[in-house]
Amino acid sequence: MKITKLKVNTKSQKYPILIGSNLILKIKKICDISHIKFKKCLLVIDSNVPKKLVSNLRINLRNKKTYILFFKASEKNKNQKSVNNILKILLSKNFSRQDCLMTIGGGITGDVGGFAASIFKRGLQFINIPTTLLSQVDSSVGGKTGINSLYGKNLIGNFYQPKIVICDTIFLKSLPKREIICGYGEILKHSLIADKKFFSYLNNNVSDILKLKSPFINNSIYTSCKIKKKVVEKDEKEKSYRKILNYGHTFAHAYEASLNYSKKLNHGEAVILGIISALKFSVQEKIMKFKDYQKIINHINASRLTKEIKKYFSKKDIKKILSFMIKDKKNNTDKINLILLKKIGSPIIDKAYDKYKLQIFLKRELVD
Ligand SMILES: NC(=O)c1ccc[n+]([C@@H]2O[C@H](COP(=O)([O-])OP(=O)(O)OC[C@H]3O[C@@H](n4cnc5c(N)ncnc54)[C@H](O)[C@@H]3O)[C@@H](O)[C@H]2O)c1
Repeated sequence: MKITKLKVNTKSQKYPILIGSNLILKIKKICDISHIKFKKCLLVIDSNVPKKLVSNLRINLRNKKTYILFFKASEKNKNQKSVNNILKILLSKNFSRQDCLMTIGGGITGDVGGFAASIFKRGLQFINIPTTLLSQVDSSVGGKTGINSLYGKNLIGNFYQPKIVICDTIFLKSLPKREIICGYGEILKHSLIADKKFFSYLNNNVSDILKLKSPFINNSIYTSCKIKKKVVEKDEKEKSYRKILNYGHTFAHAYEASLNYSKKLNHGEAVILGIISALKFSVQEKIMKFKDYQKIINHINASRLTKEIKKYFSKKDIKKILSFMIKDKKNNTDKINLILLKKIGSPIIDKAYDKYKLQIFLKRELVD
């Protein structure tokens, strides 16, 4: 069994990320080697994860007392009620801080479960087993946990690092193609903000990556996690530099929220649309050269990553989208903060724009 390992060194916690296939068959051994000790464990499991894999994991944990909560992952369920359901089990089964909460699911399950772990008795041991491509390359790394609110996405949350992240590629086999493309959006984002060579690798191998072929998929997960971990190590609590990870996300979160988190556009798809919007805006503002823009857009088009934005929005949505952009966590003035790219590997974090400028931009994007 080939396992690749990365070590995340943040101020609050040092922990490994393991990448490989069939790692869940060795979960007990992995915990022992990593000195993660617990007697009781609550498994919060995405209800779409194949039951066979869940039962393999449980068999391997048979000498521990395990409880299971199946969770229907959706942006609508990424809420306080789901956190309360988890806390109720932990409290009623008298979990202590030395016990453990393990999430087995995508980014939504990990964010909700991690948040519950962070507030339970001010911090329960947390193990993250991400099962979507997006969660393996992005959301499981870096300790952001949280839930949505009526006022916007991920507005309630915490920084809480896991004890270990286990990226088992066996889970990816049951993922719908649409979800693989969503994960690829975040892989692409990482290449754009940090690594020109990685972008070329993606450009050359995108078709094998999307088919989950080895070693392309493992290399992509590894390099993506490595880029993210380096950013998080420099700025764990997003004081400044970590904001580059939000590239495309100010647009993306507003797009998702204005569709009321409908299944029509899921998070990863919104991120790809958000990256395209950020690219176009950078060219408009003469921050990025057209030839660099063209190179990235050609890659997105050739990989058939996403649909036209006009399929989702029209003129009547502009006000709503803007209102969500104004509420974005990164803004600390009346202006809207955007992470933009000068060229591949050169992000800028300190640009803030008047809402009227964005209104004109959105009108051009969605209507003209
Ligand atoms: N914490 C962070 O740093 C961070 C970073 C990026 C994104 N996020 C969050 O992550 C969320 C998106 O994550 P996601 O794309 O993984 O979405 P998700 O958790 O909704 O999973 C996508 C879909 O795949 C299903 N699924 C999960 N594992 C499966 C498997 N192995 N086989 C078949 N189906 C499976 C889920 O049930 C769901 O329908 C968003 O809420 C976003 O805000 C967080």
